[in-house]
Amino acid sequence: MEKFRFIDLFCGIGGFHQAMTSLGGECVFACDIDEDCRKTYFANYGIEPYGDIRKIDARIIPAHDVLCAGFPCQAFSKAGKRLGFEDPTKGTLFFDIIRILEHHKPQYALLENVRNLLSHDGGNTWKVMYDRLKSAGYNLLPEPVIFSPHYLGIPQHRERVYIMCVRKDVGDIPPFYFDESKAPRCRIESILQDDDDIPNLRQYQLGWEKIQLIDLWDEFIKGIRCDKLPGFPVWSEWFRPLVPEDNLEAMPDWKRRFVLKNNALYLDNREFIDSWLQKARKCPLFFGAKAKLEWQAGQPENPSLWEQILQFRPSGLRVKPGTYFPALVAITQTSIVGCRKRELTLRECARLQSFPDSFIPDTKNAQAYKQFGNAVNVQTVKLFAAYLFGDPQVRARYSAE
Ligand SMILES: C[S@@+](CC[C@H](N)C(=O)[O-])C[C@H]1O[C@@H](n2cnc3c(N)ncnc32)[C@H](O)[C@@H]1O
Repeated sequence: MEKFRFIDLFCGIGGFHQAMTSLGGECVFACDIDEDCRKTYFANYGIEPYGDIRKIDARIIPAHDVLCAGFPCQAFSKAGKRLGFEDPTKGTLFFDIIRILEHHKPQYALLENVRNLLSHDGGNTWKVMYDRLKSAGYNLLPEPVIFSPHYLGIPQHRERVYIMCVRKDVGDIPPFYFDESKAPRCRIESILQDDDDIPNLRQYQLGWEKIQLIDLWDEFIKGIRCDKLPGFPVWSEWFRPLVPEDNLEAMPDWKRRFVLKNNALYLDNREFIDSWLQKARKCPLFFGAKAKLEWQAGQPENPSLWEQILQFRPSGLRVKPGTYFPALVAITQTSIVGCRKRELTLRECARLQSFPDSFIPDTKNAQAYKQFGNAVNVQTVKLFAAYLFGDPQVRARYSAE
């Protein structure tokens, strides 16, 4: 399609907007319940989004060719309350999409959601959605496509489902196929800013206490002798001989298993860990979740925390491979770029979501991080929109037929 009109439901800060306009689309309507998102949207695109979709009469929405909607993930996400359709306020939002779709009957609809959507409520949630989209008059694949920006060489692991719908009289959608083994290699440098180019660099740099703590865990991971680096959560509070009062029998199975693994690690490395613990206890941050480590960076030959991506999480200091970032999330849990000893900047978050450097983030940092965490990756939407519209090159590359 050379020129087309689209609407941006649950618009957030406009991941769909970016993708669709770059493909020749004109946005004729947007809505989002969140006032801060609406301000960011206006600052960037000069369009004032409407508010709560439930209060929008479909008749006020202009005619359009494409309906876009990345609907809220709270109800479906693993991180959310797992309520799905049982949540009467959130669960009905999908049906607002159907209401607008049935009124306007655009040629195409492109929907995005969290991966968990497929397994939600034993698959029933997806079945209901599929049936409703079919009965609204659209063709779609029997299952949504699961895709992540890192398959395009963008260093963010963010699996989401994409639901491509085409009006029955317009056409059908061939099965989508891609070969993960042919995905380009991700390099985090592709989105990193030069430290010299970062205004207020200090606000992103780690303070000495965090550096000391990470150094400490670095020493730990380098110092322990074991066949494999621990893939289980390392709980330093269990680095001691077990005693009957520990009452392991009363623990749930999963916890007892981890305690026993930690104890075995301790007994195999007793001398090293005892002296490491003496040092650790002098470190002011070594308590609670920071006295726990979640090593998820595989088995490198010369392991070092400073070459990985780190996150301080409520469950411990999580260490992921230094090749790509875990999904940005709406809650502030900013990733730390080990090799730079600093947190990701807002500009880098924008780049992870493939927003251009000209994008103007919210003036409040916490809001801006949240908005990028909620957004959809622009390049990924572009790929699915091009596939949906029948772009011959994209179809040739990704169609299974
Ligand atoms: C997953 S985010 C979508 C982000 C968007 N695709 C982007 O690229 O920024 C879901 C959005 O739905 C909005 N939302 C939640 N309930 C809503 C409602 N009742 N009406 C309109 N928007 C709503 C939230 O404020 C949030 O911005």
